Order: sequence, then C-alpha cells, then structure tokens
Amino acid sequence: MARGKKIYEGKAKILFEGPEPGTIVQYFKDDATAFNAEKKDVIDGKGVLNNRLSEYFMTGLNQIGVPTHFLKRMNMREQLVRACEIIPLEVIVRNFAAGSMSTRLGIEEGTQLPRPIVEYCFKDDSLGDPLVTEEHIAAFGWASQQDMDDILGLALRVNDFMSGVMYGVGIRLVDFKIEIGRVYDGDFQRLVVADEISPDSCRLWDMETGRKLDKDVFRRDLGNLTDAYAEVARRLGVMPKGTGPQKPTLVN
Ligand code: TMP
Ligand code: ASP
Repeated sequence: MARGKKIYEGKAKILFEGPEPGTIVQYFKDDATAFNAEKKDVIDGKGVLNNRLSEYFMTGLNQIGVPTHFLKRMNMREQLVRACEIIPLEVIVRNFAAGSMSTRLGIEEGTQLPRPIVEYCFKDDSLGDPLVTEEHIAAFGWASQQDMDDILGLALRVNDFMSGVMYGVGIRLVDFKIEIGRVYDGDFQRLVVADEISPDSCRLWDMETGRKLDKDVFRRDLGNLTDAYAEVARRLGVMPKGTGPQKPTLVN
C-alpha cells in the first residue's frame, strides 16, 4: 500500500503521507458522528460509499475547471489527494432552509431561499464550529479579501455543479459544506476544493418523496444510512457492477 506515516485522524477520515512529496492518502472510515461527536456509530460501508461519491463529484468539478485537491482513487477506502493547507472555515451553501438555519432563523425546513446563501463557520470542534462573518475572517487573518472573493466564487460554482448533477437524478441539493485548501506552486498560491463532498456533508432530498438521502438519516434516526447513500450512488451510476442497492460490498 502506497501510504506512509499517519498525519492526522479526524472523525470520518485518516490522512497518511502519500507516495510522493505534496501528496496525501485520504482514508475513509465507517465512523459516523453528529452534534460535534456527541452521537457516534460505526456504519458498515459508509466509508466505501463516500470514497466513491467524493471521487465522482471531485472528478466532475476538476473536469469543468473548478480546482480540487483530488488526484485519483486508489482502492475501496483510499484516495490520493494533493497536500494543501486547509483554511479553518466550513463554507456552507444553502438553497433551501434546513438544519441550523431553520433553527436559528425560524424558517420552516424546505423553504426555498430567495438566492443561494453562503455562510462561514470557524472550524474548531472545541467551540462547536461557530458561525462567523467575513469581518471575523479578515480581522483574525484566516483568509484575505482576495481569498474570500475566490472562496465565494468556488462555493457558488460547486453549488451550481452539484445542484445540476443532483437534479439530473431526481435529488434536491438542499445545502452542503465544503472546505478550501491552499496549494503552493512555487511562490504562487491557489485555492482548491478539499476534504470531501459526500452525503456526509450535503443535504440531499428525493424530489418526489422528500426522502432524506444524507447524514440527517443518522443525525435524526430515520433509518439505514448506507441504504440512503447507496441510493445516491446507484442513481449516479457509481455503484460497481454486481452490487445491489442494498449491499455496498464494493471492490476496487
Ligand atoms: P447545518 O444546518 O447543521 O449548519 O449544516 C449545514 C450543512 O453542512 C449540511 O449539509 C451538513 C453540513 N455539515 C457538515 O458537513 N459538517 C458539520 O459539522 C455540520 C454541522 C454540517
Ligand atoms: N461532523 C459533525 C460532528 O460530528 C457534525 C455533523 O455533521 O452533524 O460532530
């Protein structure tokens, strides 16, 4: 296996040194957490599905010219990504009210927003990833004004891409979270979409039935999480041959 020393272990993934300088192996675990890890479980097959799904979305983004950290999938649970310095922000884009926005502003879940709304949270588990404004981001030097312009552009392009891909398979992209990394090419710095894009980090509702096909199934105890993620994978055609929608026993 072409991976080196463990660099970091997060709630859903482990990062290892990659085979070449500037690369990292991202390993997808089956662990699911919610509410800042107050709720935890191991969901058989989740990591395999998220590895596949994140590969699918990141590859599509790369192909339409939205830069991401993704290089290639290596096996069932691992993908090779470009090493980058993660900006300590969770960038959330919302098309419909749900989750914390509905709670915070008293807007009924599912209400269409007048336009996509972008929010920023400071990535710090010990603080519960609090919502911050661009004022905090500039004042504390987490990102420059130029970075923020670029981040907004990336977030909206990811939103259009993901909304369209999901629309094509009868799924509504309610909201999602991305993380942004800095990649250095010599003296030059550019921003790329990093981390993962998967049903762990999106809200996905079936357009006809409203069925939730994302991590809210786990957060809210709505049923089997891998069945929901496998349904997304099946509709997108990324379930490998020979595996039914219920059995994500995926191989390479
Ligand atoms: P929220 O409504 O709980 O703020 O979540 C907004 C979106 O961000 C939703 O698609 C789920 C995603 N998200 C994460 O990816 N990680 C997190 O830690 C949280 C709280 C939300
Ligand atoms: N990823 C976060 C956690 O574990 C929260 C969430 O996705 O709901 O705690």
